[in-house]
Amino acid sequence: MFHPTLLTTSPRGESGAGKTENTKKVIQYLAVVASSHKGKKDANPPPQQQGGSLAYGELEKQLLQANPILEAFGNAKTIKNDNSSRFGKFIKLNFDVTGYLVGANIDTYLLEKSRCIRQANTERAFHIFYYMVAGAKDKLREELLLEDFGSYRFLLAGHVEISGQEDDEMFDETLEAMDIMGFTEEERLGMLKVVSTVLQLGNVKIEKERNSEQATMPDNTAAQKVCHLQGINVTDFTRAILTPRIKVGREVVQKAQTKQQADFAVEALAKAMYERLFRWILARVNKTLDKSKRQSSSFLGILDIAGFEIFEDNSFEQLCINYTNERLQQLFNHTMFVLEQEEYKREGIEWNFIDFGLDLQPCIELIERPNNPPGILALLDEECWFPKATDFTFVDKLLNTHTGHVKFSKPKQHKDKLMFSVLHYAGK
Ligand SMILES: Nc1ncnc2c1ncn2[C@@H]1O[C@H](COP(=O)(O)OP(=O)(O)OP(=O)(O)O)[C@@H](O)[C@H]1O
Ligand SMILES: [Mg+2]
Repeated sequence: MFHPTLLTTSPRGESGAGKTENTKKVIQYLAVVASSHKGKKDANPPPQQQGGSLAYGELEKQLLQANPILEAFGNAKTIKNDNSSRFGKFIKLNFDVTGYLVGANIDTYLLEKSRCIRQANTERAFHIFYYMVAGAKDKLREELLLEDFGSYRFLLAGHVEISGQEDDEMFDETLEAMDIMGFTEEERLGMLKVVSTVLQLGNVKIEKERNSEQATMPDNTAAQKVCHLQGINVTDFTRAILTPRIKVGREVVQKAQTKQQADFAVEALAKAMYERLFRWILARVNKTLDKSKRQSSSFLGILDIAGFEIFEDNSFEQLCINYTNERLQQLFNHTMFVLEQEEYKREGIEWNFIDFGLDLQPCIELIERPNNPPGILALLDEECWFPKATDFTFVDKLLNTHTGHVKFSKPKQHKDKLMFSVLHYAGK
């Protein structure tokens, strides 16, 4: 039977509690005790105390280096944690029949890609932006067309130092981790070019034409840099932003965008590029970690995701993460309380069945139900297909469908037309 063990360092695994640090400790431990590498036998004292990684085999070394790479691209300084994970991950360690580590695989979830274009006051974008701008020197700096921090619009809000951390040194460490991971020079350069491109996209300035609503780009310096970095044609790029070709029925026409639409497109492009880069890195890391020819027969899974989040302003991101936690908590409750008691019964232990009142299914259904009636996600999906849909029409639809549901509530003040509440395990 599948027995999950939910290891949290605080009741809700809140930010800064130590989920990621402890995940690393678990992996470090397993990398030593389950290594098939010969050096393991000489690992006395353990490798940490030898001041080196002598006892680790190649796979183990690479497994440990996956973290600094993923953290450079997926972690950021927040108010709560200087190294906050802005994505979730599931690490699967594969073992052979004799219990030796034969490979690993990482899955990631919900990267907070909006962070590359916008950050709250005193928070930062993903680490790699600062590492790269502070750490890239000479030829690399030129190849990446790097500028000073002050000239990047996407970094203006979040240029704060992290005490005890030198961004330029971290850049070297990240490159070294990529090296151990087997990334080629070309791959590393390609990745950094995407990061630099994202920054340049933030500097693309779009204006409104004087006599119409149409968007124009009087100064295309940043666009030129974007195109140079990505090896694309600047005219094509500019046209795609200002007058994209869209399909109307069977015909393809050019449609002039407003400044607002063009700005939106550029930001969406920056976020999408960064997310795809992140996914590419993950695939690349997995390629290295999963090359063993030996058959794996069992695995240990370690999940490190953000816990429940309850902010002043809760958005789509909180809906997703809280829904995930609700499902996880439900699995935990079911395994710990329901299945456990059923086992007592099977074993003939005298036991009065206790209902802990922890069935989270109604809330889960409210969010994920496909139809009869459609849940929140299904309604949102549907609303996205309507050409004139807005946040207001979406909330209206929710109220029409779910008013009366035990886990759903309407805002008290009528002026908050954009608000609805879900009553979930950890809060409202
Ligand atoms: N076991 C530990 N030993 C030493 N320091 C720790 C340990 N656990 C946590 N810390 C300290 O707390 C900080 C935050 O921990 P960590 O990044 O693991 O939190 P988290 O739960 O993953 O938070 P988030 O949800 O923001 O990702 C670490 O950077 C470290 O300074
Ligand atoms: Mg973390």
